[in-house]
Amino acid sequence: MPTIVLQGPAHLRGTLSVDGSKNAALPSFAASLLTTEPVHFRNVPPLQDVSQMLGALRELGADVRSDPALLEVSVSSKFLLDLEPNPDRIRKMRASFLLLAPLLWRRGRVTLPLPGGCTIGPRPVDLHLKGLEALGAEVRLQPPMIHVSTPLDGLRGAEIDLPYPSVGATEQLLLASSLACGRTILHGAATEPEVSALVALLRSMGVTIDRHEDTLVIHGKSELRGTSYVIPPDRIEAGTLLLAAVATRSELTLVNAPIPDLIAVLDVLEALGAQLPFLDDTLSIAAPQMIHPLCVEARPFPGFPTDLQPILVATLATADGESTVRDSVFPERFGYVSELNRLGAGIIGQHSHVIIPGKRALTGGPVTAGDLRAGAALVIAGLSASGTTTILDPHHIDRGYVGLEQKLSSLGAIIERQP
Ligand code: UD1
Repeated sequence: MPTIVLQGPAHLRGTLSVDGSKNAALPSFAASLLTTEPVHFRNVPPLQDVSQMLGALRELGADVRSDPALLEVSVSSKFLLDLEPNPDRIRKMRASFLLLAPLLWRRGRVTLPLPGGCTIGPRPVDLHLKGLEALGAEVRLQPPMIHVSTPLDGLRGAEIDLPYPSVGATEQLLLASSLACGRTILHGAATEPEVSALVALLRSMGVTIDRHEDTLVIHGKSELRGTSYVIPPDRIEAGTLLLAAVATRSELTLVNAPIPDLIAVLDVLEALGAQLPFLDDTLSIAAPQMIHPLCVEARPFPGFPTDLQPILVATLATADGESTVRDSVFPERFGYVSELNRLGAGIIGQHSHVIIPGKRALTGGPVTAGDLRAGAALVIAGLSASGTTTILDPHHIDRGYVGLEQKLSSLGAIIERQP
């Protein structure tokens, strides 16, 4: 069984470049089906979730050319097969639910499985479906499948209020309204950088989108053009590496760092006691020997991101006192805590928050990665612990980090993948 084996405590030193963002890439690939012209992507991270999404496009009949060495992908979907998306792929990766809106435009009807809950808690799609209904789609639930169709003359622009700024629902409705007839006003939209990335891509495909804080006004077009698009750097990878530097009391420089997208993360790093000089897109971090305990809540952007919540908790296990971390986005996203406790973190879980006593010397041991960010949290905890940590199910980490072990090795960590 494959494992990651690492020796702690590690001291990291060196420079890394941040790769392209997974969560910006996946909706962009769905958007490429909104035109029959080719869409060319650069800075595409060679990740498992990216391969899964591109696999889904190929199965639908798109001509997908990928050069992982050059980080380039071209999608041409002049012709699509009259097939439903493979339900297994949709169940495996929630972002593939975003194929719904483009396929609705391409063929007027789609059948997909309802995405279920996962290790980070329940993940409903009611906001996606209510928004599509407001645009005129007919939605029929026949669990575990969902059938969606458009009227003969297609979707029509509408005014929609999102009661919660869901990233996925905002992206789904951006995709759907780009080719709806007339103007859509989306109030309460998510403002995450990955949403901004999708807005930029759709604009370059010909859609006019105005933005006023959390309101998006989308002027639908009858057809969109192909384009060339650079995937922005991954703020979650950058945040993970910065927190790794703090947990191991190290120094690190990141190039290609998306600094404006990291403001809440940089605030937390500074509150931990780190120094963070930066110039343009190059950011350095120098961690103090003693890190301050904190009280942090993961919230929608511009708040501290839920995807870094497990990694922050692993870092705070080494702080000089008791911390509290809350997650208002996915309140049940604390399943990984029992694994951190196997290394001696002593974390107490409460509903929607955890109390981290700190002042603990972690000791390496065998642990299991339950999901992507939980896996990264265990790597960071293992690097700060003394002795050997063995992480089972490391494939979760490959979904969202490009060569994490190689990157950490290049900084001096003793870490390897064993078959
Ligand atoms: C995206 C990210 C994920 C990140 C999350 C929050 C991708 C591929 N994934 O996930 O990494 O953790 O944003 O930043 O980009 N909700 C509903 N009804 C819905 C949709 C969502 O109640 O129809 C709830 C969810 O249960 C959750 C909250 O809204 O509690 C946030 O979910 P959402 O923002 O939609 O996250 P995703 O788009 O799934």
